[in-house]
Formats: sequence, structure tokens, C-alpha cells
Amino acid sequence: MKILLTGGAGYIGSHTAVELLNKGYEIVIADNFSNSDPKVLDRIKQITNKTFVHYEVDVSDYNAFEKVFIKEKIDTVIHFAGYKAVGESVKLPMMYYENNLMATITLINLMNKYGVENCIFSSSAAVYDSSVARLLTEETPLSCTNTYGYTKLMSEQIFKDAARANPRLSIVLLRYFNPIGSHESGMIGDNPNGIPNNLLPFITRVAIGKLERLSVFGNDYDTRDGTGVRDYIHVVDLALGHIAAIDYCKEHKGAIAINLGTGKGYSVLEIVHAFEKASGRKIPYVFTARREGDVDEYYASTTLAKQVLGWEAKFGIEQMCASAWNWQKQNPDGY
Ligand code: WQD
Repeated sequence: MKILLTGGAGYIGSHTAVELLNKGYEIVIADNFSNSDPKVLDRIKQITNKTFVHYEVDVSDYNAFEKVFIKEKIDTVIHFAGYKAVGESVKLPMMYYENNLMATITLINLMNKYGVENCIFSSSAAVYDSSVARLLTEETPLSCTNTYGYTKLMSEQIFKDAARANPRLSIVLLRYFNPIGSHESGMIGDNPNGIPNNLLPFITRVAIGKLERLSVFGNDYDTRDGTGVRDYIHVVDLALGHIAAIDYCKEHKGAIAINLGTGKGYSVLEIVHAFEKASGRKIPYVFTARREGDVDEYYASTTLAKQVLGWEAKFGIEQMCASAWNWQKQNPDGY
């Protein structure tokens, strides 16, 4: 069975590629390397000792992307490709809408034209109105605080409408919580350009000495230690969630949204301490003002994922931190 991964050279895409190859799936990667490194492809091959085809292509470019569908008989698409920096999305909303929504629309048009029926979409907990509840179920009201989140919410709607119009489609919208960590080999990992926006890559760069100290955004939240609480999930667990979704697609039509999280929240300070323990490095930090748009605390309801995918996260926070450090230590300058 052939699986097409758009954005397959990215952080979550590359980890999913490894798990798919290890399970014997044939994969095709389509990526324009706009926010990823072509070296990732070799790393995936080295880890798995398997090979695969890749296309350097912008998935929002219909004519260019169509060549992939002409050449390859695709069974299922996993659609990772998209811009993902929250702050940047607020500054450059049109760039985010144009890129992320056109990619989704182009993909669905090509799936319909070439009879590809199954698709798994990289959505996000950013689609939830996280001010209304801490435990977020798939029924929690949807609303976003930034353009990035809206591109995910709008893409979800586009997929739902496509599935309503074409009853042969089978769509799984996976709402990721906070993916961290890396493959146990330390050969692939989260490699943001410039100064990281997300907590874990910031911490690993402090640990390696590239950044001086962490700014903890707010210590007056209504949480157990005053710092923000999130549901961090090991990227390998997340990758395995996609494989469970491939099986689900084979037996179900229509569109469904499913959370991928652990159900457990950790505060910023708990993460700092877990990372210090796993790495043996001290992480200097200072408390600074709250970051706009952040909320106190949220974590995933994991019931639906267990029920319909038979999937649950297995890795704990220690393994998440240890593997994030292993990646950074082995790749102090990234790829
Ligand atoms: C986690 C916690 C911060 C950095 C966002 C998107 C989400 C997903 C992941 C991506 C918060 C605190 C962070 C720092 C800090 N998107 N923090 N100092 O905001 O939960 O989720 O990223 O592709 O859709 O919304 O993740 O890692 O930025 O922050 O104190 O330097 O760490 O305030 O409590 P977030 P994050």
C-alpha cells in the first residue's frame, strides 16, 4: 500500500515516514523544503534501511503536484504540508491563508480527479476555544486566537465539505496537542529556523549553549505553579497515531476529527525540571510577561482516539525530554 506524505520532510512527517517504512508501507514524500532540509531524506533511509521516492514540489501548485498523482498509484495521503508558526501567521495572514488553504484545496481536487479516497490531515488543538474548558473533547466549541489556527479550522471545514460532496472519501482530521521529542536514534528531530517559538526547542538550545536563558511566559496563571500547562506528546506516539488512522480509513467513510494527546498536562516549570533531570544540564530561566493569546491550562480528552483508533500514547515525559536532548546533542547546529 502506497502512502503519500505531503510535508514528509518536516518534523512530524519525517517521524511518521520512519514508522511507516518500519511497518512495511511503501511511501512517497512530496515536499518543497521551504521549512525543512533535504538531508532528512537520507536520515530516514539510514534509520530504516529502506528507500522511497520523493518529489520536490509545492503542493499548492496544481500542475506540478498533479505529476505525483500521474506517476504514483496512491492509496492514502497524509497531509502535513503547511506553514506552522503562530506569531508569523498573525503578521503575514495572507501568506498563511494562501499557502495552507491552497494546499488543502489542490490536494482534494487531485484526490477527486485521481480517485484517491483516504486522507489524514494534520490539524491542531489550536482549533479549540481553549478558554471554555481545560479538558478538550472533540465536542468542545471551536474558535481560534490566531491565523495559523484558522488555517487548520478552515482546512478541516474544507475536508468535511469535500467528504459530504463525495461519499467515497474517508477523512481523519487529527488534532495534535504539543508534539515534542524525537526518534530514539537522535538522527531526526525538531529543527526550527532561527529562534524557536515553541518551548522544547527553546529549552534544548539553552541546554546546548546557543541561547542564554529561557523566558517563562507568565507565572501568575491559574495553575498548580502559576506557569502554563499543556499536553505534551512524544512525536513517535503521534506518528503511530497516523498509522492507526490509515487502518481506520479503510473501514469508514466520511470525515471525523480525533484528538492526539496524552490526556496529561505539564507546566512550563515541570517541563524545565524534567528536562534538567533527563539531560543533566541546568536550564537558566527568568519569568517574563504572559505571551498574547496563551491560556492557563488545557489537555486532550483521549477517549475517542482509544475508542475509534485503538491508539493511546505510550511514552512518558522523561522519554520525551531525553530524546529531545539526544537529538540536539547529536545535531548542535541542526541538520
Ligand atoms: C508551551 C508553553 C508557553 C516558549 C503552539 C500552537 C499549537 C502547536 C504547538 C504548532 C506555553 C510556554 C513557550 C517560551 C514559555 N502548533 N513558553 N517560553 O503555545 O501551547 O502551542 O505550538 O505547530 O497549535 O498554538 O506551544 O511550545 O509555544 O508553548 O514559557 O519560550 O510554554 O507560554 O505555556 P503552545 P509552545
